[in-house]
Amino acid sequence: MEHEELIKVWDIGVRVFHWSLVVLFFIAYFTGEDDSLVHIYAGYAIIGLLAFRIVWGFIGTRHARFSDFIYGRAAVLGYASSLIRRRPIHYAGHNPVGGLMVILLLVLLVGISWSGLEVYGAQGHGPLAGNSMTMISTAVADDDHEGSGKDSPAEKFWEEIHEAFSNVTLFFVLIHFSGVIVTSLVHRENLIRAMITGYKQKR
Ligand code: HEM
Ligand code: HEM
Repeated sequence: MEHEELIKVWDIGVRVFHWSLVVLFFIAYFTGEDDSLVHIYAGYAIIGLLAFRIVWGFIGTRHARFSDFIYGRAAVLGYASSLIRRRPIHYAGHNPVGGLMVILLLVLLVGISWSGLEVYGAQGHGPLAGNSMTMISTAVADDDHEGSGKDSPAEKFWEEIHEAFSNVTLFFVLIHFSGVIVTSLVHRENLIRAMITGYKQKR
């Protein structure tokens, strides 16, 4: 076999974060309508992962840091046009467009988590139970729902937001996945394998 020089790109934290997130995201997505606690536990685990990743974005290894993959307009446009010209500029870490997608996904996941906690709070559970925002929206028109077995207006309100965030995120996950496949092909580089092993071939 030919000798290949490998460089370490993704540390263990990024890799465990990513694949745990993938599993938990789909568990959460498909248990949203269940009454079991599986959805809540998956949601809490995702909140833990997000907290880790945000801290790791400041103190993690080189390519894990936000500063490594947040680029300006020029780099984003430059990369996009290099892709279109089929002469893609190579980056060891996230490329400028990929980096943008990473930030978008993280922001959307924070939105899902926050609205999920609000739904749970409106049901009287979790850390946001009885918090001011839930209380205000509940106080407006909740009296006749007490004990009626129906969802309160506050719960319905947050559920709509939570569901919208979930579906928008799923949409961008599909684009993310397509982006990974397309860039793997144009760079002739298996990005999925790199996210598993942590290594890429040196170029
Ligand atoms: C990636 C993370 C998550 C995804 C993809 C997700 C997705 C969903 C979906 C699709 C629903 C169904 C909404 C509907 O049809 O009305 C739902 C409901 C719900 N989610 Fe999440 N969710 C996530 C995280 C969370 C978190 C962190 C919490 C808070 C602990 C949470 C709490 C809830 C609650 C309480 C419901 C309503 C369940 C019910 O009463 O039927 N979710 N979620
Ligand atoms: C089977 C489905 C998926 C595959 C094959 C996949 C693959 C990948 C790959 C290869 C990367 C690295 C991209 C690069 O080289 O720049 C990546 C990054 C990332 N993906 Fe996915 N992904 C999948 C699903 C998801 C889902 C469901 C989410 C979240 C809802 C997600 C969120 C992310 C995030 C946040 C990053 C940045 C990683 C970091 O720097 O911490 N991915 N993904």
